[in-house]
Amino acid sequence: MSGETLEATFESGSIDDTLALGAGLGRAMSGTLTVGLVGTLGAGKTHFVKGVAVGNAVADGCRVTSPTFTLVHEYTGRLTLVHLDAYRLKSSTELLSLGFDDFEHERSVVIVEWADRMRGVMPEKMMWVELSVTAETSRSFRVTAAGAVAVTCLRAWQAGLR
Ligand SMILES: Nc1ncnc2c1ncn2[C@@H]1O[C@H](COP(=O)(O)OP(=O)(O)OP(=O)(O)O)[C@@H](O)[C@H]1O
Ligand SMILES: [Mg+2]
Repeated sequence: MSGETLEATFESGSIDDTLALGAGLGRAMSGTLTVGLVGTLGAGKTHFVKGVAVGNAVADGCRVTSPTFTLVHEYTGRLTLVHLDAYRLKSSTELLSLGFDDFEHERSVVIVEWADRMRGVMPEKMMWVELSVTAETSRSFRVTAAGAVAVTCLRAWQAGLR
């Protein structure tokens, strides 16, 4: 990985904490960013996205669900939030055929569950959020920002949570 990077870890002790953490990212985003979510089944990726949608001022953000059948969900808020779940995709070719390369535009944030399965087509400059289940209702979020946009966003996210 070349260029600017920044790492941070956040802890969640409840679903509400995860929603608040996501909302913090949703408020901190300023556009043109890809966020890759990594974590086992039921780690909390979709709940986190729900929080991001709420923070991004998506009307009915709390209705965010996993894009299981339609594969891509798009939510209009302050920025356009494009939500993908790579779990059911067989290959990165399938992700590209959904238009993945075109999703990232000026005022959009692309958020991908199971992004580690699609590492080959993920941009070099993006934000990775790795969720670990630390106890039944506790989760640890390890965030790695690569590139100036992602680093600025992570700094704003941290500042907003203080
Ligand atoms: N601190 C927490 N944050 C988020 N979810 C939590 C937390 N504690 C318990 N949970 C539970 O973990 C589950 C998380 O579900 P969610 O659908 O968000 O996970 P996911 O990572 O998107 O799963 P999948 O891989 O199936 O898409 C829910 O059942 C939720 O109630
Ligand atoms: Mg999910």
